[in-house]
Order: sequence, then structure tokens, then C-alpha cells
Amino acid sequence: MISESTRSRFDREVAKYPADQKRSAVMACLSIVQDEQGWVSSDAEAAIADYLGMATMAVHEVTTFYNMYNQQPVGTFKLNVCTNLPCQLRSGQNALHYLEGQLGVKMGQTTPDGLFTLQQSECLGACADAPVMLVNDRNMCSNMSNERLDQMLEALRQKAKAAQAAGKGVQS
Ligand code: FES
Repeated sequence: MISESTRSRFDREVAKYPADQKRSAVMACLSIVQDEQGWVSSDAEAAIADYLGMATMAVHEVTTFYNMYNQQPVGTFKLNVCTNLPCQLRSGQNALHYLEGQLGVKMGQTTPDGLFTLQQSECLGACADAPVMLVNDRNMCSNMSNERLDQMLEALRQKAKAAQAAGKGVQS
């Protein structure tokens, strides 16, 4: 299940911790798997658990605790819209519903072209800039009015087109 190159990446992370604290590298190992496969399958969780000498359920608890780990395959762009209370009070729910309408999918779904996965998220720590969302777990987008959401979707579509024309994957 774990390739040699993946194992050597795991080894580098484990080396950062005391020998009896291997499990501290669990988040890094999950990130490596997601980086290579796009998501974290239950087989991958079992392989990480085996490698780190911990229970598979303990690995699964980490996977399911954090929004950034994908528990199923996602689109090229994962859009996480914050719908916690402070954002809700400033149109966070509206941003999510607007994106559902524009993309033709419901929360948790991926567009048929595989470009966008729409999800809600917990507080992203930028409540003052609500509505707030995160693209591919890295790029924070603030004050997302309908107009700004349209601009963002268009920019991402152009980015995907450019990457396709260049024969490359999309960089987040
Ligand atoms: Fe949305 Fe805090 S509630 S960023």
C-alpha cells in the first residue's frame, strides 16, 4: 500500500520526533497521502496506522476531526464556506447557497466536470471578514459577496483552463 517514496517521506517526518513518539507524525503522514492521492482512503488510514504503530481508529479520528483531510475524492478546487455563527450573521449561509446555485450542486457534492467540490466549514478564524471561505485548504477568501464569488469562480475556471492547456495540474 505504501510506496518506497511515500515511506521515505514518512520517515523524514517521523525523524522529527523522539523514537517513542512516532504517532506525532500522523497529521504529516495524512497530508503526504492526500498530496499524493488527492484524498485519504480507509486503506491509507490503515497503512498509516500500521506504519506508526497506532490503532486505525485513532488515525481515522484525526482524519475526521480536520476539514482539510478529504475522506472521499474531491474536485480540482475544494471550496469550503464558513457557516459558523459569526459568518452566518454576515451572509455566510447566503454565500453557500449562492455557490450551490451557480455550480448546480448541493453542499458536499462535486460538479459533473470534476472542477468544484462545495463544502461548509467550521470557523476559519477570520470572522471579521465574513463571509469567508477557503480554496483548496490554503487560499483564504474574505468578504465574499455574490459578485466576488462570481469573480472567484471565473478566475478558478481560467486557472484550470490554463493548466490544462499547459498539460499541467492546477497548483493551489
Ligand atoms: Fe466564519 Fe469565524 S465564523 S470565520
